Amino acid sequence: MAENSNSESLTVRDLSFSFGKKLKVLTNLSFSLNQEEVLALVGPSGCGKTTIARLIGGFLSPASGEIRINGTSAEKEELKGTVALFSQAPTLLPWRTMEGNIRLPLEFEKVDRSGASIDEAVETVGLMGFEKSYPDQLSGGMKQRAVFARLIVAEHKLVLLDEPFSSLDDFSRQEMGQLFIEIQRSRKFAAVIVTHSIEEAVFLANKVVVLSARPGQVVSEHRISFEGPRTRELLKKQEFFNEVQKIRSLLP
Ligand SMILES: Nc1ncnc2c1ncn2[C@@H]1O[C@H](COP(=O)(O)OP(=O)(O)O)[C@@H](O)[C@H]1O
Ligand SMILES: [Mg+2]
Repeated sequence: MAENSNSESLTVRDLSFSFGKKLKVLTNLSFSLNQEEVLALVGPSGCGKTTIARLIGGFLSPASGEIRINGTSAEKEELKGTVALFSQAPTLLPWRTMEGNIRLPLEFEKVDRSGASIDEAVETVGLMGFEKSYPDQLSGGMKQRAVFARLIVAEHKLVLLDEPFSSLDDFSRQEMGQLFIEIQRSRKFAAVIVTHSIEEAVFLANKVVVLSARPGQVVSEHRISFEGPRTRELLKKQEFFNEVQKIRSLLP
């Protein structure tokens, strides 16, 4: 079957954006993401990655070009709830228990859903027994898990993660990456992950898009496919190093 924009979860075409008159952040940026796939955006600090995530999330409007999510312009009201943007720090309401935080998306929901229950989500992320704990009683990694549980419950079609693991230590980072992949594979949403780690990008993504320094433009695109599942074993394999090295050699 020919690939067209209907089979794409996200289409970014000729996107340009500036802050004010002087600061040109993005020029003629184009890339696309298939349904149920993960795209990683890597590029130097300040090249406009967070800006791209905010544009896709509909929090900023493009100066020119277009962003389509499942065929609909990103600025359309009807997309509310379809796209979720997660930024660096886990966002949990401090006055709600972990379970209360996970329940949030359901409280805004008007229609019946067939998705995971709160119990299932808590179990998937391994937080059983902490349902009644408040965010400041949880470690950084546990808060991240709670955010993932909320993501499972919310059933977004497209999930944007802006350097989601940057506040975690190396060990939790890998663990969270693997957990994220498991959730994404089972829930089948599409995801864009912004990261400055090429290793993380290669580990998590089906496609890596490398950006230049500001104004951000696409330097190269890489389709990533490995034989086996994306587990920590993969991080020790030569084929993994080779992909990382190939991309690193193309960085500006
Ligand atoms: N709200 C804003 N107003 C003005 N300039 C901004 C704003 N947000 C970001 N910038 C600038 O836009 C550029 C891209 O920022 P950003 O998208 O955060 O980069 P990245 O996430 O790749 O590090 C930077 O030069 C930054 O200083
Ligand atoms: Mg950023």
